[in-house]
Amino acid sequence: MMTMKKITSLALAGLMTVSVVAAFAQDAFVAPATPEEAVEMRQATMKENGGTLRTAGELSGEEAVAAMQTLLDNYTHIPEMFPEDSIVGDSKALPAIWESWEEFNAIVETGRAAAESGLAAAQAGDAAAYGEAVKTIGGTCGQCHQQFRAQS
Ligand code: HEC
Repeated sequence: MMTMKKITSLALAGLMTVSVVAAFAQDAFVAPATPEEAVEMRQATMKENGGTLRTAGELSGEEAVAAMQTLLDNYTHIPEMFPEDSIVGDSKALPAIWESWEEFNAIVETGRAAAESGLAAAQAGDAAAYGEAVKTIGGTCGQCHQQFRAQS
């Protein structure tokens, strides 16, 4: 028969495994190795941003939490998806990104911080704060595209 201590330590080991897996899953992002990979990755991520933002304003509960988590993850990794001078293929990225890297990152940070507070608001069921966060994130899309993405 297992002693209580044994059971507790087994349970703890189980919990630790779960949290290690969770930490790994959250940080599964792998930076692009080539400019081609970077373009592909950021275009896919941007498409996901578009799909997520389109409905985010109407969501609540778990769906709102998931939307904010997606945007938070994406914004966290935007800078890594733009290695210097990675304009190849059909990329619409502009050289201004690297000429004004701090400005580019400031827009990312505004969106990242808003996604973080939107996530907290969604978890707390604070619809007003959630709506504000969605609006702020939406503003960063247009602001960045206007400055840093080719228009056609
Ligand atoms: C900090 C800058 C920045 C932010 C913030 C940003 N984007 Fe983008 N986005 C870009 C750039 C640059 C491109 C062009 C990437 C390329 O083609 O290499 C792009 C491309 C896109 C594309 C086209 C993807 C494709 O298939 O070619 C969509 C859609 C898009 N963004 C949606 C969004 C939405 C929605 C948001 C806000 C939730 C957002 N973006 C936030 C810079 C940004």
